[in-house]
Amino acid sequence: MKRKVVLSLFVFFLLLILIGCGNGKEPVNTNVTKSNNDTLILYFSATGTTKKIAERISTKLGSDIVEIIPKEKYKDEDLDYNSDCRANREQNDSKARPEIKNKIDISKYDTIYLGYPIWWGTNPKIILTLLDSYDFTGKTIIPFCTSGSTDITGSVEALRSYDSKLNIKDGKRFSLNDSDEIITKFINSNAVNSSNEVVSSVKAVINSKEYTINLEVNETANSFVNMLPKEFKMEELNGNEKYIYLDSSLPTNSSNPKHINSGDVMLYGDNCLVIFYKSFDTSYSYTKIGHIDNLPDLGSDSVSVKLEK
Ligand SMILES: Cc1cc2nc3c(=O)[nH]c(=O)nc-3n(C[C@H](O)[C@H](O)[C@H](O)COP(=O)(O)O)c2cc1C
Repeated sequence: MKRKVVLSLFVFFLLLILIGCGNGKEPVNTNVTKSNNDTLILYFSATGTTKKIAERISTKLGSDIVEIIPKEKYKDEDLDYNSDCRANREQNDSKARPEIKNKIDISKYDTIYLGYPIWWGTNPKIILTLLDSYDFTGKTIIPFCTSGSTDITGSVEALRSYDSKLNIKDGKRFSLNDSDEIITKFINSNAVNSSNEVVSSVKAVINSKEYTINLEVNETANSFVNMLPKEFKMEELNGNEKYIYLDSSLPTNSSNPKHINSGDVMLYGDNCLVIFYKSFDTSYSYTKIGHIDNLPDLGSDSVSVKLEK
């Protein structure tokens, strides 16, 4: 009887150990961060297509969204591009600056996703009215557009040559039926750190030995960089990982990688930082932060870790 109790306890503790860092609960896939106070989605949409993409980007980022409303609304006949319509006349007139009805406060935002439809290969003239009306200096502008088929490139070049001082990223054209993954990828590829520069690696000193974490380009890696420097002890688990629960949560976009490679730096849930030092197959979901090349076996004890930009 006594042996049975001891055996049950042993199995119970073994299960606890196997479940590991996340206490067995699968992290929820919450996609990207929900607290982008410094990011604004600003868009013009004459017939509602760009509006739908703008709303999806805003929902994913949890950021503010503002529509650029023309003082004179574009009616159907204004958009009939097979005729001498108002939109065509504006596009052909280099001086046309259609008035904007609403006042827009861009002052508190560092990053502005700027959305518009493509009109005759470029941005509608109301976007130039916007650039004339507000000071975008020092802000990062990330353009996005919808169109019948034309790519965004021509309009981005036009915006850059309109004001060469502005920091305008390459941007992306969307179709209405583009998946959530496409939108998430777009957001993550534009992730910048708090000083508006992309940091691609981080220094990690593990038990006094220096390594480099080559970072993923995503919102999680970006937020991870923004919380550095950090120094802590990481606990051993399962003979393949060292982990620590961070003080604060990071944005997640978790999925099951199926295989873990030695050197992978992952986020489990939204606040458990994990460094794997063995390769193995996994059924758990993680958000990848980066990878350390040539990481040796870190042994069975906890390790001291210092992380710096
Ligand atoms: C005046 C005008 C010009 C357009 N020119 C182009 C074009 O050059 N290339 C293209 O692919 N689509 C063009 N389109 C189609 C729009 O870009 C497309 O329908 C867009 O998704 C509309 O977005 P919205 O609903 O947000 O206004 C044009 C539409 C209008 C009204």
